Amino acid sequence: MDEARYLKNVWYVAGWSSELAPGDKVARTFLEQPVVLWRSSDGAVHALADRCIHRAMPLSAGPVDGNVIRCPYHGLEYGPDGKCVKIPAQDKVPSSARVRAYPIVERQGLIWIWMGEHDQAETASVPDYPIHDDPKYAWRSAHYPVNGNWQLLVDNLMDLSHLPYIHANTIGGNPELHFKTKTESEKLPNGVRVTRYMPDSVPPPTYVDAGGFTGRVDRWQEIEFEPVLIRIHTGACDAGTGAYEGLREHGFSMRGFHGITPETATTTHYFWSMATNKLNDGMPDEVFEQTARTFKEDQDVLELQQLRMSEDPTGTMIDIASDVGGRHTRQFIARRLREEATATIAA
Ligand code: FES
Ligand SMILES: [Fe+2]
Repeated sequence: MDEARYLKNVWYVAGWSSELAPGDKVARTFLEQPVVLWRSSDGAVHALADRCIHRAMPLSAGPVDGNVIRCPYHGLEYGPDGKCVKIPAQDKVPSSARVRAYPIVERQGLIWIWMGEHDQAETASVPDYPIHDDPKYAWRSAHYPVNGNWQLLVDNLMDLSHLPYIHANTIGGNPELHFKTKTESEKLPNGVRVTRYMPDSVPPPTYVDAGGFTGRVDRWQEIEFEPVLIRIHTGACDAGTGAYEGLREHGFSMRGFHGITPETATTTHYFWSMATNKLNDGMPDEVFEQTARTFKEDQDVLELQQLRMSEDPTGTMIDIASDVGGRHTRQFIARRLREEATATIAA
């Protein structure tokens, strides 16, 4: 794996809308570039290079004041477009006094950032996640900083055969069941889709708690990767009640959103949300708590893998049968990285 490479011309999740009230700011590094995210008093979110043009002070250390952010060192003020609008000690602001501004789109509870070529940022290509606006679902969100390369997280989510081992006490279930479950992987124009179906199976603990199942279930796992996020729809219905014929509303659904944003070659922002259609008796909280525990288990795995990989980046790895989705995804990412590299050379 070439760890130091990132897809540039894609929308990445930069944060959750709920993290920033007007006047708030947060410092975050994306693709090795320090960025300050801030919300001006008019409610809009902005992203600027987090380095004052004067003496490199991080702007994130300064206050948001109305519709500008002020460097705390000598008071230079910057507008949403990165232009310096005020230098306290002089009348004229030179046009070179500006920092890079990154395109931002906020919708469906998510703040998206474009780290690539400015003129290639198209609002229309921001990934859609209507579940966050769907009244049939309740959702909670989190941000895990992971000490691991972003592709390790992609691998983890595209191959759910780790469930019975790492998540035995929550969403796992019987290992035998997982062995017998066939993983189908399909290449899509802009990603990869993996499906696993477990008809007439024993539901795992989370499903029993939240779904109230008393007998066997028809269970599904549908995973879709597009650069660079993963949508996972998992759930179950009582066996034989139509789960595989599109009749799922009466069953238990968990919809996971997984925004995967590289911070550095060995660290990743993991922005995830979990939505469920079980809205009664504090169920969204319970499902979220169990999911949070589950993803912490994944985080531990990724960090242990990264430790070994950093010790010996040339060490070999093999693929096994359940890696089919992960392999397709890696092939997809490798192709996109090549395309971006070629386009950069051509430019
Ligand atoms: S370093 Fe920002 S104003 Fe001087
Ligand atoms: Fe996991």
